[in-house]
Amino acid sequence: MESKANAPNILIVDDEIGPRESLRMVLKPNYNVFAVENGYAAIQMIQQIEMDVLTLDLKMPGMTGIDTLKEIRTIDPDVMIIIITGYGTLKSAIEGIRYGVFDYIPKPFNVPEILSIIDKSIQRRKLNRKVKEILGDCFNQQLLKEPHADSDLPAHKEGKEIANGKWDEINLSDAQSCLEFAKVLAYTLEEKDPYTSGHSERVCYYSDFIAKRLFFSPKERSELQIASYLHDIGKIGISNRFINKKGTLTPTDWVIIKQHTKKSIELLIPLNLSANILSYIQHHHERFDGAGYPDGLAGEQIPLGARIIAIADSYDSMTSDRPYRKPLTNGDAKNELVKNAGKQFDPNLVSLFLDVLKEMEDAFLVKDHLRAPANVY
Ligand SMILES: [Fe+2]
Repeated sequence: MESKANAPNILIVDDEIGPRESLRMVLKPNYNVFAVENGYAAIQMIQQIEMDVLTLDLKMPGMTGIDTLKEIRTIDPDVMIIIITGYGTLKSAIEGIRYGVFDYIPKPFNVPEILSIIDKSIQRRKLNRKVKEILGDCFNQQLLKEPHADSDLPAHKEGKEIANGKWDEINLSDAQSCLEFAKVLAYTLEEKDPYTSGHSERVCYYSDFIAKRLFFSPKERSELQIASYLHDIGKIGISNRFINKKGTLTPTDWVIIKQHTKKSIELLIPLNLSANILSYIQHHHERFDGAGYPDGLAGEQIPLGARIIAIADSYDSMTSDRPYRKPLTNGDAKNELVKNAGKQFDPNLVSLFLDVLKEMEDAFLVKDHLRAPANVY
């Protein structure tokens, strides 16, 4: 195969010659295209050549698409995967989310759609790399050092200084690219902590339902979505020893964990996000009765978006698995919200959220299939 310098590498995995070859023809002008007809060959190929994107048929003889997906993820956690299948089922979608599938395309595919999705996946991969590079620079040295209860340590300041300027290379000129960027940051965080896989996406999902009920404008909804994805981003600067600790946290552990709201803001300040977004993130652990952190705000002093995220965050955490306990049922989690209305949570928002959940359950929209382990701190 003649290789195009600097063109992304794409691997097509499909047992059917028709779709495989037509996809190859469509992609050939712009990409280095490789094609194999089964999972075993795909795994061999991925071990030899770094791929940017992989299109995967789910229904293949021998090794199934899902088994192939699992194996590929152990070899290359960063390759963008697009499922192309005539047999999309809810179960395969669930599995796909678990293994970080970028998108689904039903067979027979249409050419403009597949070209657009592949282009988006390549853009996402570039952004992933950039973000990892910047975050790596910011925090690697810091993570190597023993975390300390004083967040004004020189290492922390150093992180901020490295972040300053580098973010400039990322285009955040509109709400859409800003949301896309927020997702990449959130997924990067969730990679660090497997127990939070999918957590920020679900927090965004629940928060947005509340926002719609409150007739938020498109701009307000977009700000809340971005804040929902980024609410715990500061955990990226806190050692997994604390984030994944089983058993009771000591007072010192809490001091360190509580720093994540402040760390989030310090990390995000160079991005020039709106003041609303930053305030939602900063205050998502305030309590309605004033006993929360970081600033002990109470009632309506707490920004509305932060009160919404607090409920979505806690509900998702309660209904998700943790290393040390099973998830609560939806019913028990709702009872907890009611019990804490007026104490931890805004009581009006709790009753509104319960109405939303009821409607979602009636419409089978509660994303059970997105449910995965999560810790909330
Ligand atoms: Fe948090």
